[in-house]
Amino acid sequence: MEDVAYGITADTGGHIKYVLELAEASAADPAIARIDLVTRGFCDAQLGERYAPGRCETEGKIRIVRLDDGDPSYLGKEDLHLRHEELVEAFFAYLGGLDRLPDLIHAHYADAGLLARRAKEKLGIPYVFTGHSLGAVKRQASEIDDDNLERRIAIEEAALETANAVIASSRDEAEAQYAHYRSIESGHIRVIPPGCELERFENAKPTDKARRDIARFLREPGKPMILAIARPVRKKNLIALVEAYAADPRLREMANLVIVAGCRTRMADLEPECREVCEDLIAAVDAHDLYGKIAYPKSHDPEDIPAYYALARETGGVFVNPALNEPFGLTLLEAAAARLPVVATDSGGPNDIIERCGNGLLVCPKDIENIADACHEIITDRKKWIRYASAGGEAIAAYDWAAHRQIYHRLIRELVQPAAEPRRCERLLVCDIDNTLLGDRDALQEFLGWQRENADTMALGIATGRSFHSAQAILAAEGVPSPDVIISSVGTQIHWYDRLQRRFVEDEAWKNRVAAGWDAEKVERVADSLGLRRQSRLEQRVGKSSYFLDDNDPDIIEKAFRAAGLDVEIVASHTRYLDILASGIAKHAAVQHVAEMLDLSEARIVVAGDSGNDRAMLRACPRPIVVANWSDGLGEDPALSHAFMAKGSHARGILEGVRHYREAGNW
Ligand code: GLC
Ligand code: MG
Repeated sequence: MEDVAYGITADTGGHIKYVLELAEASAADPAIARIDLVTRGFCDAQLGERYAPGRCETEGKIRIVRLDDGDPSYLGKEDLHLRHEELVEAFFAYLGGLDRLPDLIHAHYADAGLLARRAKEKLGIPYVFTGHSLGAVKRQASEIDDDNLERRIAIEEAALETANAVIASSRDEAEAQYAHYRSIESGHIRVIPPGCELERFENAKPTDKARRDIARFLREPGKPMILAIARPVRKKNLIALVEAYAADPRLREMANLVIVAGCRTRMADLEPECREVCEDLIAAVDAHDLYGKIAYPKSHDPEDIPAYYALARETGGVFVNPALNEPFGLTLLEAAAARLPVVATDSGGPNDIIERCGNGLLVCPKDIENIADACHEIITDRKKWIRYASAGGEAIAAYDWAAHRQIYHRLIRELVQPAAEPRRCERLLVCDIDNTLLGDRDALQEFLGWQRENADTMALGIATGRSFHSAQAILAAEGVPSPDVIISSVGTQIHWYDRLQRRFVEDEAWKNRVAAGWDAEKVERVADSLGLRRQSRLEQRVGKSSYFLDDNDPDIIEKAFRAAGLDVEIVASHTRYLDILASGIAKHAAVQHVAEMLDLSEARIVVAGDSGNDRAMLRACPRPIVVANWSDGLGEDPALSHAFMAKGSHARGILEGVRHYREAGNW
């Protein structure tokens, strides 16, 4: 699909690229026979014949079909609803003309969701839905009541209500953005990151032009470069970075600031918002007298962008994205591919990138001290800088269409195959994810082979500190089939896999139990009084307030909460994380609940873990496995003297443990 005219209208942007790249990636799978991309046709003198109703284009397995709804004029997305009924008719006519109905429909964007819903209702074809940009998020950002937006949201609700699965690109989309919709439950959403073309950035080198464009601003251009690249609009929050830099004498002394904010010839010609943002930036430079320390090139060519990342890397610098909300975070992936450590807003998509790749730090975009500290930490700690820089390579593997295809096609297979028979499990194995089930890919494959052989009688459970979508996404990415149950956010949420519906369903009874008596505000007040540093917004749940441990002593924190009359569980992990959980809630309590629901006695359960947030679960279970790569003192814990201490690490340790309990004949 060469020569696509992106941007030809307001509606031919990123989602078209996504659909085309996805179709191409999908077609490369020999198991896929055919892909039809169905869209509305129109004849418009300016846009050309190419898009005419009824016209088809074929390239290999992919065919583009342009529906004829009887009106040949071009319609923007706001007006499409006027032709919905005719489009449905045209869609049915197209389906009726096929020699074989599709196995699955993938609807992209609200209006397509409506067509897919009708086809499911009439013909029973399952469908998955990708929203791309969501009306409810737009409504929240613009704070205006707009009939078009309300209509779009209603269409989205209808599409979501009967979709077999919903695909989101990030955890923020799954957990925060879809929370605005009534018709969807958390368990129906699967997070599958899209592919991104990062090759250009991976091999980026500084160019003489990029050097010159920046050096003319700076007194000492060789100093570490703090780089930001973003359009000059308010929500990108570039001003916060200038303020953070200006307010921190250490940074002003040791680093330069480089802000690449679009292109301009004359400020007066910019759109009003862009002009104001640029004026504010320049006013701040002047107010703080940052001359000679900050560069803000007027314009650049597309090929300068990779060179800027490379230049920042060469100086031992850092890339910063301080956006108030960043829906996805493509620039962070570009920086990652260029092996440049990042400091990123904790609001939106960057959570996933940092969690997956470990290539930098998340910061609160409203806290300029936090932004400055993170930059300082990365630039001054050379070991950390190297670790984050090389971790960026993970982004290339994670955000790749071939990787996406694998996960996506596994989901499709799950949805189109006949539903699995319900089964009666005699045993339950519950594994932590990070550094237990995952961490060694060969060992995981061995484990999965064993698990398949035992799946008829053994339920597989997950118990993790990660959120549900974070857990689901990483398990899918690593090729772990949907487990029977996922205990997430350190025991505060439980999702069951429904084998008939092929989706996860949250355990409502557990949800209510966790919520009862939880007072997030009180917890926050005590935590604030102790000066604890909060984790990002996405890590906070009903029943779980999460902080960083930093130099704090968990015992002192526990006492402070008791003294404040708050009955909570304090859990420290990896000398880094601190979770404050609802009273009586943690992984172990959730495992007990799961066992009760499965009607299994304690003796039928084996649990496996590696770190502090597994401790209570391991202690409480009569058959625990501690993998060899344990931390937080688990291997020396007297209360774990009954545990099986594996010699193997990660999944190999789990296998060793389950075999031990099987051979001992008591599991
Ligand atoms: C995961 C969670 C984090 C929690 C930690 C320890 O990393 O994302 O919020 O603090 O596990 O339980
Ligand atoms: Mg772990």
